[in-house]
Amino acid sequence: MAPVKLDTSSPDDMKLADNGQAKERVSSVLKGLETIEPLVRSVEETPEPICTEFKIHKGQVTYMSRFLQSDAYRTNSERDRIVMSEFGTLAMPDPCKNFFQRFLSRFEMIQPTDNASVSFVKYKGDYYVSTETNFMHKVNPENLHTLEKVDWSKFIAVNGATAHPHYDPDGTTYNMGNSYGSKGALYNIIRVPPEKNEATDTLHGAQVLCSIVPTDKSHPSYYHSFAMSENYVVFIEQPIKMDLLKIVTCKLRGKALSEGIYWDPKQETIFHLIDKRTGEPSSVKYHTKAISTFHQINAFEEDGFLMLDMCCADDGQAINNYLIQNLRKSGDALDEVYNTLCRVFPRRFVLPLHVTSETPTGQNLNTRLSSQATCVHVSQDKVFCQHEDLHGDDLHEYGGLEFPQINYNRCNTRPYRYFYGCGFRHLVGDSLLKMDLEDKTLKDKGTFLLVLDARTFDELGRANVPVNIPYGFHGAFKAST
Ligand SMILES: [Fe+2]
Repeated sequence: MAPVKLDTSSPDDMKLADNGQAKERVSSVLKGLETIEPLVRSVEETPEPICTEFKIHKGQVTYMSRFLQSDAYRTNSERDRIVMSEFGTLAMPDPCKNFFQRFLSRFEMIQPTDNASVSFVKYKGDYYVSTETNFMHKVNPENLHTLEKVDWSKFIAVNGATAHPHYDPDGTTYNMGNSYGSKGALYNIIRVPPEKNEATDTLHGAQVLCSIVPTDKSHPSYYHSFAMSENYVVFIEQPIKMDLLKIVTCKLRGKALSEGIYWDPKQETIFHLIDKRTGEPSSVKYHTKAISTFHQINAFEEDGFLMLDMCCADDGQAINNYLIQNLRKSGDALDEVYNTLCRVFPRRFVLPLHVTSETPTGQNLNTRLSSQATCVHVSQDKVFCQHEDLHGDDLHEYGGLEFPQINYNRCNTRPYRYFYGCGFRHLVGDSLLKMDLEDKTLKDKGTFLLVLDARTFDELGRANVPVNIPYGFHGAFKAST
Protein backbone atom coordinates (compact mmCIF):
# COMPACT_ATOMS: atom_id res chain seq x y z
CA MET A 1 0.00 0.00 0.00
CA ALA A 2 1.38 3.40 -0.88
CA PRO A 3 1.87 5.68 2.13
CA VAL A 4 -0.66 8.43 2.55
CA LYS A 5 0.47 11.89 3.49
CA LEU A 6 -1.83 13.35 6.11
CA ASP A 7 -0.44 16.79 6.84
CA THR A 8 1.07 19.34 4.56
CA SER A 9 3.43 22.03 5.64
CA SER A 10 2.14 25.29 7.00
CA PRO A 11 3.57 27.87 9.36
CA ASP A 12 1.51 26.24 12.12
CA ASP A 13 3.61 23.14 11.76
CA MET A 14 6.61 24.87 13.24
CA LYS A 15 7.71 22.83 16.22
CA LEU A 16 9.92 24.04 18.99
CA ALA A 17 12.92 21.90 19.80
CA ASP A 18 13.98 21.29 23.39
CA ASN A 19 16.25 24.31 23.22
CA GLY A 20 13.38 26.53 22.12
CA GLN A 21 14.64 26.89 18.55
CA ALA A 22 12.42 26.28 15.58
CA LYS A 23 12.76 22.87 14.00
CA GLU A 24 12.41 22.24 10.30
CA ARG A 25 8.76 22.06 9.51
CA VAL A 26 7.12 18.71 9.95
CA SER A 27 5.78 18.56 6.42
CA SER A 28 5.25 14.91 5.78
CA VAL A 29 3.39 12.99 8.45
CA LEU A 30 2.84 9.68 6.72
CA LYS A 31 0.49 6.78 7.40
CA GLY A 32 0.53 3.29 5.96
CA LEU A 33 4.28 2.92 5.41
CA GLU A 34 5.30 -0.41 3.94
CA THR A 35 7.43 -2.52 6.27
CA ILE A 36 11.14 -2.72 5.42
CA GLU A 37 11.65 -5.88 7.47
CA PRO A 38 12.85 -7.82 4.34
CA LEU A 39 15.63 -5.24 3.90
CA VAL A 40 17.06 -5.82 7.36
CA ARG A 41 16.71 -9.60 7.34
CA SER A 42 19.69 -11.99 7.18
CA VAL A 43 20.56 -12.99 3.63
CA GLU A 44 22.52 -15.72 1.87
CA GLU A 45 25.84 -15.05 0.20
CA THR A 46 26.04 -14.85 -3.58
CA PRO A 47 29.78 -15.59 -3.92
CA GLU A 48 29.80 -16.10 -7.70
CA PRO A 49 28.59 -13.36 -10.04
CA ILE A 50 25.03 -14.01 -11.15
CA CYS A 51 23.23 -12.63 -14.15
CA THR A 52 20.52 -10.09 -13.64
CA GLU A 53 17.39 -9.23 -15.55
CA PHE A 54 19.07 -6.86 -17.84
CA LYS A 55 17.97 -3.82 -19.83
CA ILE A 56 21.22 -2.04 -20.70
CA HIS A 57 22.21 -2.30 -24.36
CA LYS A 58 25.95 -2.35 -23.87
CA GLY A 59 28.01 -3.78 -21.08
CA GLN A 60 26.81 -6.31 -18.58
CA VAL A 61 25.61 -6.25 -15.00
CA THR A 62 26.29 -9.05 -12.58
CA TYR A 63 25.80 -9.20 -8.83
CA MET A 64 27.73 -10.97 -6.12
CA SER A 65 28.00 -10.73 -2.34
CA ARG A 66 30.06 -12.28 0.40
CA PHE A 67 29.94 -12.05 4.13
CA LEU A 68 32.96 -10.25 5.48
CA GLN A 69 34.98 -12.93 7.25
CA SER A 70 35.44 -10.79 10.34
CA ASP A 71 36.23 -12.28 13.72
CA ALA A 72 32.80 -11.07 14.83
CA TYR A 73 31.09 -12.94 12.00
CA ARG A 74 33.11 -16.12 12.47
CA THR A 75 32.73 -16.21 16.24
CA ASN A 76 29.00 -15.50 16.12
CA SER A 77 28.54 -18.09 13.36
CA GLU A 78 30.45 -20.77 15.23
CA ARG A 79 28.40 -20.28 18.38
CA ASP A 80 25.18 -19.57 16.47
CA ARG A 81 24.40 -16.58 18.67
CA ILE A 82 25.60 -12.99 19.15
CA VAL A 83 28.85 -13.31 21.08
CA MET A 84 30.42 -10.01 20.04
CA SER A 85 28.74 -6.84 21.28
CA GLU A 86 28.00 -4.23 18.63
CA PHE A 87 27.00 -0.59 18.76
CA GLY A 88 23.35 -1.24 19.60
CA THR A 89 23.58 -4.86 20.75
CA LEU A 90 25.03 -6.13 24.01
CA ALA A 91 26.11 -9.76 23.82
CA MET A 92 24.72 -11.77 26.69
CA PRO A 93 27.15 -13.73 28.92
CA ASP A 94 27.97 -17.21 27.63
CA PRO A 95 25.31 -19.57 29.07
CA CYS A 96 27.94 -22.34 29.12
CA LYS A 97 29.91 -20.49 31.78
CA ASN A 98 29.09 -21.07 35.41
CA PHE A 99 27.39 -18.42 37.48
CA PHE A 100 30.60 -16.81 38.77
CA GLN A 101 32.22 -16.77 35.34
CA ARG A 102 29.13 -15.10 33.92
CA PHE A 103 29.13 -12.60 36.78
CA LEU A 104 32.81 -11.79 36.28
CA SER A 105 32.43 -11.43 32.51
CA ARG A 106 30.28 -8.37 33.15
CA PHE A 107 33.39 -6.57 34.42
CA GLU A 108 35.28 -7.14 31.19
CA MET A 109 35.42 -4.26 28.73
CA ILE A 110 33.45 -4.60 25.52
CA GLN A 111 35.89 -5.56 22.77
CA PRO A 112 35.78 -3.36 19.68
CA THR A 113 34.08 -5.11 16.79
CA ASP A 114 35.70 -5.79 13.42
CA ASN A 115 32.30 -6.12 11.76
CA ALA A 116 33.20 -3.41 9.25
CA SER A 117 29.84 -2.97 7.57
CA VAL A 118 29.58 0.79 7.13
CA SER A 119 31.52 1.59 3.97
CA PHE A 120 34.22 0.80 1.45
CA VAL A 121 37.19 3.18 1.78
CA LYS A 122 40.57 3.50 0.06
CA TYR A 123 44.07 3.84 1.47
CA LYS A 124 47.12 3.76 -0.81
CA GLY A 125 44.91 2.57 -3.66
CA ASP A 126 43.68 -0.52 -1.76
CA TYR A 127 40.07 -1.16 -0.80
CA TYR A 128 39.05 -1.64 2.80
CA VAL A 129 35.75 -2.09 4.55
CA SER A 130 35.37 0.10 7.57
CA THR A 131 33.20 0.74 10.57
CA GLU A 132 34.22 3.20 13.31
CA THR A 133 36.43 1.03 15.52
CA ASN A 134 40.20 0.48 15.26
CA PHE A 135 39.67 -2.50 12.92
CA MET A 136 39.28 -2.49 9.15
CA HIS A 137 39.55 -5.34 6.64
CA LYS A 138 41.37 -5.13 3.34
CA VAL A 139 39.21 -6.76 0.65
CA ASN A 140 39.75 -7.87 -2.91
CA PRO A 141 37.24 -5.86 -4.96
CA GLU A 142 37.33 -8.43 -7.77
CA ASN A 143 36.04 -11.40 -5.78
CA LEU A 144 35.12 -9.79 -2.42
CA HIS A 145 37.47 -12.04 -0.48
CA THR A 146 38.46 -10.80 2.96
CA LEU A 147 42.25 -10.35 2.83
CA GLU A 148 43.71 -8.82 5.97
CA LYS A 149 42.55 -7.38 9.27
CA VAL A 150 44.23 -4.02 9.89
CA ASP A 151 44.41 -2.35 13.30
CA TRP A 152 44.72 1.46 13.34
CA SER A 153 46.17 1.38 16.84
CA LYS A 154 49.22 -0.54 15.59
CA PHE A 155 50.20 2.51 13.51
CA ILE A 156 49.07 5.57 15.49
CA ALA A 157 47.59 6.23 18.91
CA VAL A 158 43.92 6.21 17.99
CA ASN A 159 41.07 3.96 19.08
CA GLY A 160 39.28 4.08 15.74
CA ALA A 161 38.57 6.11 12.64
CA THR A 162 35.44 7.12 10.76
CA ALA A 163 34.17 5.28 7.70
CA HIS A 164 34.24 8.58 5.78
CA PRO A 165 37.82 9.58 4.96
CA HIS A 166 38.55 12.40 2.51
CA TYR A 167 41.01 12.21 -0.35
CA ASP A 168 43.38 14.77 -1.87
CA PRO A 169 43.90 14.46 -5.63
CA ASP A 170 47.33 12.82 -5.05
CA GLY A 171 45.74 10.04 -2.98
CA THR A 172 46.65 11.41 0.45
CA THR A 173 43.87 10.30 2.76
CA TYR A 174 42.58 12.24 5.76
CA ASN A 175 40.44 10.80 8.50
CA MET A 176 39.51 11.46 12.12
CA GLY A 177 39.53 9.20 15.14
CA ASN A 178 39.32 9.48 18.90
CA SER A 179 41.95 8.38 21.38
CA TYR A 180 41.34 7.60 25.03
CA GLY A 181 44.73 7.70 26.70
CA SER A 182 46.52 9.22 29.66
CA LYS A 183 45.70 12.70 28.31
CA GLY A 184 42.01 11.87 28.33
CA ALA A 185 39.82 11.80 25.26
CA LEU A 186 41.14 13.58 22.18
CA TYR A 187 39.80 14.12 18.68
CA ASN A 188 42.61 13.35 16.22
CA ILE A 189 43.06 14.39 12.61
CA ILE A 190 44.84 11.58 10.74
CA ARG A 191 46.80 11.69 7.50
CA VAL A 192 47.82 8.59 5.52
CA PRO A 193 50.30 9.16 2.68
CA PRO A 194 49.55 7.66 -0.74
CA GLU A 195 52.94 6.04 -1.23
CA LYS A 196 53.72 2.38 -0.57
CA ASN A 197 57.25 1.32 0.31
CA GLU A 198 56.27 -2.33 0.18
CA ALA A 199 53.46 -3.93 -1.78
CA THR A 200 52.05 -5.22 1.50
CA ASP A 201 51.85 -1.76 3.13
CA THR A 202 48.51 -0.90 4.71
CA LEU A 203 48.41 2.18 6.97
CA HIS A 204 52.19 2.62 7.03
CA GLY A 205 53.29 6.22 7.41
CA ALA A 206 50.02 7.29 9.05
CA GLN A 207 50.38 10.37 11.23
CA VAL A 208 48.27 12.23 13.73
CA LEU A 209 48.23 15.70 12.24
CA CYS A 210 46.46 17.41 15.10
CA SER A 211 44.77 16.52 18.39
CA ILE A 212 41.87 18.58 19.69
CA VAL A 213 40.75 18.59 23.31
CA PRO A 214 36.98 18.07 23.65
CA THR A 215 34.95 20.92 25.11
CA ASP A 216 33.85 18.44 27.79
CA LYS A 217 36.60 15.86 28.33
CA SER A 218 34.40 13.22 29.90
CA HIS A 219 31.63 13.75 27.34
CA PRO A 220 33.30 14.10 23.93
CA SER A 221 31.08 14.47 20.88
CA TYR A 222 30.19 11.62 18.59
CA TYR A 223 30.98 12.32 14.94
CA HIS A 224 30.33 10.17 11.91
CA SER A 225 32.35 12.19 9.42
CA PHE A 226 34.00 15.57 8.85
CA ALA A 227 34.50 18.05 6.01
CA MET A 228 37.57 19.05 4.04
CA SER A 229 38.34 22.07 1.88
CA GLU A 230 41.52 22.73 -0.07
CA ASN A 231 43.45 23.97 2.96
CA TYR A 232 41.42 22.90 5.97
CA VAL A 233 39.95 19.92 7.71
CA VAL A 234 36.67 21.00 9.31
CA PHE A 235 35.71 19.12 12.45
CA ILE A 236 32.12 19.56 13.61
CA GLU A 237 31.81 19.15 17.38
CA GLN A 238 28.09 18.49 17.67
CA PRO A 239 25.99 18.01 20.80
CA ILE A 240 25.58 14.27 20.28
CA LYS A 241 27.57 13.38 23.37
CA MET A 242 29.30 10.24 24.55
CA ASP A 243 29.10 9.63 28.29
CA LEU A 244 32.43 7.82 28.67
CA LEU A 245 31.63 6.53 32.15
CA LYS A 246 28.38 5.00 30.89
CA ILE A 247 30.16 3.55 27.86
CA VAL A 248 32.93 1.82 29.84
CA THR A 249 30.38 0.45 32.32
CA CYS A 250 27.72 -0.57 29.78
CA LYS A 251 28.48 -4.29 30.06
CA LEU A 252 28.36 -4.07 33.83
CA ARG A 253 25.01 -2.33 33.61
CA GLY A 254 23.71 -4.75 30.97
CA LYS A 255 23.19 -2.00 28.40
CA ALA A 256 24.30 -1.60 24.79
CA LEU A 257 27.07 0.86 24.03
CA SER A 258 24.60 3.13 22.23
CA GLU A 259 22.88 3.83 25.56
CA GLY A 260 25.89 5.94 26.52
CA ILE A 261 25.24 8.34 23.65
CA TYR A 262 22.76 11.17 24.08
CA TRP A 263 21.59 14.40 22.49
CA ASP A 264 22.15 17.60 24.47
CA PRO A 265 20.23 20.39 22.70
CA LYS A 266 21.40 22.98 25.24
CA GLN A 267 24.90 22.95 23.79
CA GLU A 268 26.03 24.80 20.71
CA THR A 269 27.70 23.11 17.76
CA ILE A 270 31.33 24.16 17.21
CA PHE A 271 33.24 24.12 13.91
CA HIS A 272 37.01 23.65 14.25
CA LEU A 273 39.25 24.49 11.28
CA ILE A 274 42.59 22.70 11.09
CA ASP A 275 45.26 23.78 8.61
CA LYS A 276 46.09 20.66 6.55
CA ARG A 277 49.70 21.72 5.98
CA THR A 278 50.68 22.76 9.51
CA GLY A 279 48.17 20.80 11.59
CA GLU A 280 47.36 24.02 13.47
CA PRO A 281 43.77 24.45 14.64
CA SER A 282 42.39 27.96 14.12
CA SER A 283 42.12 30.01 17.29
CA VAL A 284 38.75 31.28 16.12
CA LYS A 285 35.92 28.83 16.77
CA TYR A 286 32.74 29.00 14.75
CA HIS A 287 29.55 28.28 16.67
CA THR A 288 26.00 27.62 15.64
CA LYS A 289 22.89 26.37 17.42
CA ALA A 290 22.55 22.70 18.37
CA ILE A 291 22.41 20.63 15.20
CA SER A 292 23.24 17.07 14.38
CA THR A 293 25.00 16.01 11.21
CA PHE A 294 26.10 12.67 9.83
CA HIS A 295 27.17 13.49 6.28
CA GLN A 296 28.79 16.52 4.74
CA ILE A 297 28.16 17.48 1.12
CA ASN A 298 31.21 19.62 0.29
CA ALA A 299 33.41 22.43 1.62
CA PHE A 300 35.28 25.02 -0.42
CA GLU A 301 37.11 28.30 0.04
CA GLU A 302 36.32 31.43 -1.96
CA ASP A 303 36.93 35.16 -1.37
CA GLY A 304 38.16 34.67 2.19
CA PHE A 305 35.24 32.47 3.23
CA LEU A 306 34.89 28.76 3.74
CA MET A 307 31.55 27.38 2.61
CA LEU A 308 30.54 24.33 4.61
CA ASP A 309 27.62 22.39 3.11
CA MET A 310 26.13 19.52 5.04
CA CYS A 311 23.00 17.57 5.86
CA CYS A 312 21.66 18.71 9.24
CA ALA A 313 18.83 18.01 11.63
CA ASP A 314 17.61 20.11 14.52
CA ASP A 315 17.72 17.16 16.83
CA GLY A 316 20.13 14.29 17.30
CA GLN A 317 17.90 11.47 18.50
CA ALA A 318 18.10 9.52 15.22
CA ILE A 319 21.15 7.56 16.35
CA ASN A 320 19.06 5.87 19.03
CA ASN A 321 16.01 5.33 16.82
CA TYR A 322 17.65 3.30 14.07
CA LEU A 323 17.36 0.09 16.04
CA ILE A 324 16.59 -3.24 14.41
CA GLN A 325 13.43 -3.44 16.49
CA ASN A 326 12.21 -0.19 14.91
CA LEU A 327 13.32 -1.12 11.39
CA ARG A 328 11.30 -4.33 11.55
CA LYS A 329 8.08 -2.68 12.65
CA SER A 330 4.98 -2.46 10.50
CA GLY A 331 1.62 -0.78 10.56
CA ASP A 332 0.91 2.00 13.04
CA ALA A 333 4.06 1.25 15.03
CA LEU A 334 6.20 1.83 11.95
CA ASP A 335 4.34 5.03 11.08
CA GLU A 336 4.95 6.27 14.60
CA VAL A 337 8.70 5.67 14.41
CA TYR A 338 8.93 7.51 11.09
CA ASN A 339 6.78 10.42 12.13
CA THR A 340 8.72 11.07 15.34
CA LEU A 341 12.08 11.27 13.52
CA CYS A 342 13.45 14.72 12.78
CA ARG A 343 13.94 15.34 9.05
CA VAL A 344 17.38 16.09 7.64
CA PHE A 345 17.98 18.99 5.23
CA PRO A 346 20.98 20.38 3.32
CA ARG A 347 22.36 23.63 4.71
CA ARG A 348 25.27 25.96 4.09
CA PHE A 349 27.38 27.67 6.72
CA VAL A 350 29.69 30.50 5.64
CA LEU A 351 32.81 30.82 7.80
CA PRO A 352 34.97 33.97 7.48
CA LEU A 353 38.61 32.86 7.36
CA HIS A 354 40.44 36.05 8.33
CA VAL A 355 38.93 37.07 11.66
CA THR A 356 41.33 38.93 13.98
CA SER A 357 40.98 41.03 17.10
CA GLU A 358 40.55 44.00 14.75
CA THR A 359 37.49 42.48 13.10
CA PRO A 360 34.39 44.43 14.17
CA THR A 361 31.92 42.61 16.40
CA GLY A 362 28.15 42.53 16.26
CA GLN A 363 27.72 42.67 12.49
CA ASN A 364 27.26 40.13 9.76
CA LEU A 365 30.62 39.44 8.12
CA ASN A 366 29.15 37.52 5.20
CA THR A 367 29.60 39.80 2.20
CA ARG A 368 28.64 37.17 -0.38
CA LEU A 369 25.62 38.74 -2.02
CA SER A 370 24.02 35.50 -3.09
CA SER A 371 24.08 33.98 0.38
CA GLN A 372 21.58 34.33 3.21
CA ALA A 373 23.89 32.73 5.76
CA THR A 374 25.18 35.00 8.51
CA CYS A 375 28.37 34.99 10.56
CA VAL A 376 28.85 37.45 13.39
CA HIS A 377 32.07 38.05 15.32
CA VAL A 378 30.70 37.96 18.86
CA SER A 379 33.89 37.88 20.96
CA GLN A 380 37.64 37.55 20.49
CA ASP A 381 37.76 33.95 19.31
CA LYS A 382 34.12 33.27 18.57
CA VAL A 383 32.04 33.71 15.45
CA PHE A 384 28.37 32.77 15.57
CA CYS A 385 26.96 31.40 12.33
CA GLN A 386 23.45 30.94 11.02
CA HIS A 387 22.86 28.72 8.07
CA GLU A 388 21.32 29.21 4.69
CA ASP A 389 18.96 26.49 3.40
CA LEU A 390 20.27 24.67 0.35
CA HIS A 391 16.80 23.70 -0.76
CA GLY A 392 13.37 25.03 -1.56
CA ASP A 393 10.07 24.16 0.06
CA ASP A 394 9.56 21.22 -2.28
CA LEU A 395 12.19 19.16 -0.48
CA HIS A 396 9.79 18.85 2.48
CA GLU A 397 7.57 16.77 0.22
CA TYR A 398 10.39 14.27 -0.15
CA GLY A 399 11.02 13.91 3.56
CA GLY A 400 14.33 15.83 3.47
CA LEU A 401 17.64 14.63 2.04
CA GLU A 402 20.44 12.44 3.35
CA PHE A 403 23.38 10.42 2.02
CA PRO A 404 24.60 13.31 -0.17
CA GLN A 405 26.99 12.73 -3.03
CA ILE A 406 28.89 15.03 -5.37
CA ASN A 407 31.12 14.32 -8.33
CA TYR A 408 33.92 13.95 -5.79
CA ASN A 409 36.99 13.85 -8.00
CA ARG A 410 35.95 16.95 -9.89
CA CYS A 411 34.13 19.02 -7.28
CA ASN A 412 35.37 18.19 -3.80
CA THR A 413 36.96 21.28 -2.16
CA ARG A 414 35.82 23.39 -5.17
CA PRO A 415 32.81 25.58 -5.98
CA TYR A 416 30.17 23.30 -7.45
CA ARG A 417 26.62 23.34 -8.73
CA TYR A 418 24.94 19.98 -8.19
CA PHE A 419 24.65 17.44 -5.46
CA TYR A 420 22.65 14.23 -5.22
CA GLY A 421 20.99 12.49 -2.30
CA CYS A 422 18.19 10.27 -1.08
CA GLY A 423 14.78 11.54 -0.14
CA PHE A 424 13.39 10.04 3.06
CA ARG A 425 9.68 9.35 3.00
CA HIS A 426 10.56 6.23 4.91
CA LEU A 427 13.14 5.09 7.47
CA VAL A 428 15.39 4.33 4.51
CA GLY A 429 15.89 6.46 1.42
CA ASP A 430 12.99 5.97 -1.00
CA SER A 431 13.86 8.39 -3.80
CA LEU A 432 16.87 9.84 -5.54
CA LEU A 433 17.18 13.60 -5.78
CA LYS A 434 19.40 16.02 -7.65
CA MET A 435 19.75 19.57 -6.34
CA ASP A 436 20.79 22.53 -8.47
CA LEU A 437 22.47 25.02 -6.16
CA GLU A 438 22.07 27.90 -8.61
CA ASP A 439 18.35 28.13 -7.96
CA LYS A 440 17.96 25.48 -5.22
CA THR A 441 15.55 23.44 -7.26
CA LEU A 442 15.23 19.71 -7.45
CA LYS A 443 16.03 18.66 -11.00
CA ASP A 444 14.70 15.10 -11.13
CA LYS A 445 13.17 12.74 -8.68
CA GLY A 446 13.13 8.99 -8.90
CA THR A 447 11.76 6.29 -6.66
CA PHE A 448 14.70 4.01 -7.32
CA LEU A 449 17.79 3.83 -9.45
CA LEU A 450 20.32 1.48 -10.80
CA VAL A 451 22.08 3.37 -13.58
CA LEU A 452 21.31 7.01 -14.31
CA ASP A 453 23.15 9.59 -16.36
CA ALA A 454 24.49 11.99 -13.71
CA ARG A 455 24.09 14.98 -16.03
CA THR A 456 20.56 14.50 -17.28
CA PHE A 457 19.25 11.91 -14.83
CA ASP A 458 18.08 9.94 -17.85
CA GLU A 459 17.79 6.27 -17.03
CA LEU A 460 20.51 4.32 -18.81
CA GLY A 461 19.22 1.00 -17.59
CA ARG A 462 18.25 -1.07 -14.64
CA ALA A 463 19.10 -4.54 -13.51
CA ASN A 464 16.79 -6.57 -11.35
CA VAL A 465 18.74 -8.91 -9.11
CA PRO A 466 16.95 -12.20 -8.39
CA VAL A 467 18.12 -12.42 -4.75
CA ASN A 468 17.50 -10.38 -1.63
CA ILE A 469 20.16 -7.62 -1.48
CA PRO A 470 20.94 -6.56 2.09
CA TYR A 471 20.42 -2.90 2.91
CA GLY A 472 23.69 -0.98 3.19
CA PHE A 473 24.61 2.63 3.83
CA HIS A 474 27.52 3.42 1.56
CA GLY A 475 29.68 2.02 -1.18
CA ALA A 476 32.49 2.91 -3.53
CA PHE A 477 32.94 2.59 -7.27
CA LYS A 478 35.83 0.60 -8.61
CA ALA A 479 36.94 1.05 -12.20
CA SER A 480 36.59 -2.21 -14.10
CA THR A 481 39.82 -3.81 -15.23
FE1 LIG B 1 27.83 7.37 6.77
